[in-house]
Amino acid sequence: MIGRNDPCWCGSGQKWKKCHYPRLPTGPALSKQYLTAYGIVLKTPEQIEKIRHACQVTARILDQLCQHAKEGVTTLELDELSRELHKKANATPAPLGYGSPPYPKSICTSLNEVICHGIPDKRPLQEGDILNIDVSCIVDGFFGDCSRMVSIGKISEEKQRVIDVSLQCLNLSIKMCKPGNEVWQIGDTIEKHARAHKCSVVNQFVGHGVGIAFHEAPEIPHHYNDLTIPFAPGMTFTIEPMINAGVRDGVIDPKDGWTVRTKDGKPTAQWEHTILITETGHEILTLI
Ligand code: MF3
Ligand code: CO
Repeated sequence: MIGRNDPCWCGSGQKWKKCHYPRLPTGPALSKQYLTAYGIVLKTPEQIEKIRHACQVTARILDQLCQHAKEGVTTLELDELSRELHKKANATPAPLGYGSPPYPKSICTSLNEVICHGIPDKRPLQEGDILNIDVSCIVDGFFGDCSRMVSIGKISEEKQRVIDVSLQCLNLSIKMCKPGNEVWQIGDTIEKHARAHKCSVVNQFVGHGVGIAFHEAPEIPHHYNDLTIPFAPGMTFTIEPMINAGVRDGVIDPKDGWTVRTKDGKPTAQWEHTILITETGHEILTLI
C-alpha cells in the first residue's frame, strides 16, 4: 500500500500527497457532501460569527452562576439569577420548555449522584456537594452550550477524582479536534483516560452538533464507538463527558422524566464546551 509520503506512482518524483493523492472536496462541494452523507451542516463564516457570539454569552452566564454557587444558596435561586442574566444579554434559555415532558427550568443543576438534567429546586447547597451547572442559550437565533463543576467547601476524595478526571477527559478529547481526525477518537480518548483512573463513562447521553439548532448532527459519543466521520472546518459541536466513580449506568427519575442519577448512587461529574473545527485545528467557542 502506497503511503502519502511515498513517491507518486506516476513517476513524477514528487510525494504522492503532493501529486495524484485524491483531494477532499472543499467549499460548497464539501458542505453538500457532509449534509448528504451525515446530515451535518458545515457553518458559513457568517453563521460562525453568530454562533461564536452566542457561545460567549452562554459562557459568561455560566461563569456568573458558578460564582454565585455557594453554601446555603438554592439551585432555584441560581435558576432565577440565570433568567435575569439571560434577559440582560438578550438571550433565551434553550432548556425552558424543551423536550417532553417540557423541561421546566432555564438551566440544569446536577448535584452529586445526578449525572445530568437535574432540575433546580429549593434544596440549599451544602458543604461537601459537587454541582454541575449547564447553560444553553439562544442568541439572535443561534445556540451555545456549556457546563462546569463547582464544589462546595471540602469534598470527598472520590468527588474530587470524578471532577478532575472529567475535566481531563474533556481537555484531552478537545486536542483530537482537527481536520484529519475522526469522531470516534473523542470517545476513544475519553474512555481510555477514564478507565485508567478507575472511572466509567456514561453512554446513554452524548455530545451533539449545536449552533443553528440546540441538538443537531452529529452525535458525539464519549464512550468507545466506531463513528468514522472526519472532522471538517465549519463543524460546531459539544463535547460533554459524564464520568462516574462507580458504574456507568444512569436511571431517569420516573416522577419528573428528566433527572438522571447514577444507578449505584456514586458521584458523577461533567464539563462541557462548544467546539468549532477550523482549517488547522479547533476553536473552543465557550472559553472566556
Ligand atoms: N448540555 C445539555 C444537553 O445538551 C443541556 C440539556 S438541557 C435540557 O443535553 F433541557 F435538555 F435538559
Ligand atoms: Co449539550
